[in-house]
Amino acid sequence: MKILGFLGSPRKEGNTAILMNEVLSEAKKGGHEVNIYYLNETNIQGCQGCLHCKKHGGCRIDDDMQSIYDEIQAADSIVFGTPVYWGGESSQFKTFFDRWFAFIISPPPNYVVSLRPGKKGVFFITQGREEEDMFQYLPKRFSSILKGMLGFSAVYTFVAPGLRKVEAKERPELLAKAREAGKFLIS
Ligand SMILES: Cc1cc2nc3c(=O)[nH]c(=O)nc-3n(C[C@H](O)[C@H](O)[C@H](O)COP(=O)(O)O)c2cc1C
Repeated sequence: MKILGFLGSPRKEGNTAILMNEVLSEAKKGGHEVNIYYLNETNIQGCQGCLHCKKHGGCRIDDDMQSIYDEIQAADSIVFGTPVYWGGESSQFKTFFDRWFAFIISPPPNYVVSLRPGKKGVFFITQGREEEDMFQYLPKRFSSILKGMLGFSAVYTFVAPGLRKVEAKERPELLAKAREAGKFLIS
């Protein structure tokens, strides 16, 4: 099984990275192929809204996303992790995910998606606030896009609240949540 992780935090050893590694550790144990992308280190430009993808299929922007599109097509499961920044996803994550619009070749009613269907996904957020349901709209939104528009077969989400510094390693209940997500990926 080929599994990709996309890290939306610029902190490679921060909370989101710690939990991403914990999710992926389950997959690694099972001997699956795992690859993490640190989005902050990639060269990904913002979607230009040119709709080239609707006329010609594929995105015309020549940047790191071109090889990432191929990797995404080939992946069986994908893990998305982002810190909450001002109530939304990080800018690195937003820039990356906007580019998934290129997978939608034709909008409804003649809906055509170029992404190979049936992938499994995990989407999680880390946040400073203690209230677990405060930014629940983020997992809901991404889960609905991935399943409803991009053909994912199932998406598992979780929220890691109360993380203000780099303390995820000292939160066994959050590490356990991440491992559960990892088990889902390879089940
Ligand atoms: C620019 C910025 C904006 C943030 N906005 C929020 C927010 O709106 N709500 C919240 O609960 N935490 C917010 N946080 C806290 C982070 O979401 C939290 O500390 C997260 O775990 C950081 O992830 P990281 O360690 O992977 O970088 C913000 C942090 C930064 C740097």
